[in-house]
Order: sequence, then C-alpha cells, then structure tokens
Amino acid sequence: MDLGIFIPIGNNGWMMSENSPQYPPSFELNRQVAERAEAAGYDFLLSMVKLRGFGGKTEFWDHNLESFTLMAGLAAVTEKINLFASVALPTMEPAMVARMASTIDDISDGRFGINIVSGWNQIEYSQMGVWPGDWYYEKRYEYATEYVKIMKELWSTGVSDLKGEYFQMDDCRLSPPPKNGGVPLVCAGQSDVGMDFCATYGDFQFIIGTGDLDVVRNDAGRLMAAAEKSGRDVGVYVLFQITMGETDEEAEAKWQHYKDGADLDAIKFMTGQAELDTAGATAEKITEMQGAFNLNIGPIVGSHATIAAKLDEVAQIPGVKGAMCVFDDYPTATQEFGEKVMPLMSSRS
Ligand SMILES: Cc1cc2nc3c(=O)[nH]c(=O)nc-3n(C[C@H](O)[C@H](O)[C@H](O)COP(=O)(O)O)c2cc1C
Repeated sequence: MDLGIFIPIGNNGWMMSENSPQYPPSFELNRQVAERAEAAGYDFLLSMVKLRGFGGKTEFWDHNLESFTLMAGLAAVTEKINLFASVALPTMEPAMVARMASTIDDISDGRFGINIVSGWNQIEYSQMGVWPGDWYYEKRYEYATEYVKIMKELWSTGVSDLKGEYFQMDDCRLSPPPKNGGVPLVCAGQSDVGMDFCATYGDFQFIIGTGDLDVVRNDAGRLMAAAEKSGRDVGVYVLFQITMGETDEEAEAKWQHYKDGADLDAIKFMTGQAELDTAGATAEKITEMQGAFNLNIGPIVGSHATIAAKLDEVAQIPGVKGAMCVFDDYPTATQEFGEKVMPLMSSRS
C-alpha cells in the first residue's frame, strides 16, 4: 500500500472552516511537510493546480502557489520521495510541459510525475483568457489524448510531428529526455471517459474516498474494467481526509469542531449557491452545507489504530495500490501519521 500526501499548496489545506488551522501556503511549509514525509517513509507528494479561490471569511484557496515550480523546489531539497505536479491543460502547451517535466526529472533524479487535469472549471481559465470555449466541456479528454501523445512522443523519441485536431507539431524537438524515457502520469477524472483516459495513458488513477467502502470498491472496479480493456497495469490511489486523536472520541470532537466552523460563504461559492440567503436558510440546509466543509473528501476520523485498520481495509479492495492523505495540521499530522499510524498498518509491512 503506497501512501502519499496531497500537500498544502493552497491556504488552509482542504477544510473550509474558521475552526481548522489557518495558514497561507508557502515553500517553507511544504518543505517541512516534504522533509517529514520523507523521514517517515511516505511514497509520494502531489500538489494540485488551483487558479481561483472560493472567498468567504477564510478566503478559501484565494492563495495558491504554482504546482510545477513548487515541486521543482521540493525536488531540490528531498532525496527519495516521488513528486507529482498538476497541469491544467488549457493553461500550458504540451511541448513546454514535457520540457518542464524533463527538467524536474533531472533535478529529482527520476522522481517526478504529472497529474493530468483536463480542466472544466471555466472561471479559472476564462479569467486569464485561455478558456477554449464551451465545446471544451465535451471534448476535454480528446484534447487530453492529443496532449499526452505529444508529451510521450517527445520523451520517447525526442521529436513530435503530430498533426491533430487541437495541436499541430512541426518537427518539434525535446532533449534531454527524462531518465526513464518518460515520467509517470496520474489522473483524477471520475467520469467514465476520464477513467478510460487514465486506463489508456496513465499509471495511477485517483478516486475520491468515502466512508462507505462499497462506493470505493465500485469506483476501483470501474477503473479495473477500463484497464482490462486497454490491457495496461494502472493502480488506484484513494483520497482520504485524515483526522487523528489519541482516542476515537478525541478525533471525533476535533472533526466536529472543524465542521461547526464551516465557512458557509466559501461553501456557497463552491456549490454554485452563491445567491443563497444563508440567514434565511433552514436548519437542514445549513447542516447539509456544513457537511461539505471538507470538499466532500471521505473522512477517516479516529485513533491511530482506527485509522490504520480502515486503511488496511481499503488496501484489500481489488485494484487499490495506495492512498493519498489530506491532513488538518500538515507538518504535525504528517509526522504523527508516520510515527503512530503507519507502523500499525499491516498493508505497509
Ligand atoms: C486526487 C484528485 C486530484 C485532483 N487534482 C486537481 C487539480 O489539481 N486541479 C483541478 O482543477 N482539478 C483536480 N481534480 C479534479 C479532477 O481532475 C477531475 O476533473 C474531476 O475529478 C472531475 O472528473 P472528470 O474530469 O472525469 O469529469 C482532482 C481530483 C482528485 C480526486
């Protein structure tokens, strides 16, 4: 069971709450997380690309670093751990991203990979004039297919002449290539077409964890079915939000406290309910909204033993090769999980 961390490239991690740790993103914070992760034996770190925040009292994700440059910095200060940056395809040309990957592959000595984000959140791209047009909603994985074909050609042969519907290469060159003739690609599309794309071109597929492991089993099964069709070995990584305590009760109290502080304005923005008058909303509506304070990432809340047992259960699901953790208080929790949860996991021994 591989273990990774979704590192805090944006402010406040993945909790839209006034009661959760409040912090700006910085290289120093992410370096601390990376160094502690490496010391504890985690397998990988991933940073997302997010270009527009949700506002609210916590200014949720209004502050975000850039993914490739952050990972290049982390590559220079780590030695063992694998690193993934995320590219939002409408924002950067494939030949440039292929070259950036070769460069970070060199800095990291072969530890770098890319998370392919096809990108559907129009405002992130239209704000800078690069939203391709509404046709893109339907065609984004066709666009992604040409995109990764170009990168793979450049890495493996040093040249691409691909004449596609979206990209025209003209004897495009790349050298030096990455050490292994390419870098791993991960994807996180949850739709069938997104999973087919990953099964054809990716190495790992992220799925969003839920408390109900049957849902995880079903999503992992969808990926496995797609991988069987493509005849490729693609592993599933499951994303979870980890909240730890010395006891289950302590962890649950912490979780409830975070939830009680839900930033309803940020949640309204995320859920497209910006016009909702929260002052006049029903108690049920408010409770429902509060429930989304962690972006609906499957929570695992409990003692170290409870968390280890749950992750061991996840590891048994066919197709699952790892989990990626989101934490509340990053540097502290990275170390605590490494020292107190990992040693209890039978799937790690
Ligand atoms: C682990 C994980 C990482 C993701 N990273 C990003 C990201 O960095 N930027 C982004 O805009 N979307 C990100 N997404 C969203 C996905 O790329 C994808 O667009 C979304 O899950 C919807 O699936 P679909 O593209 O198949 O419709 C991520 C999702 C997951 C589960």
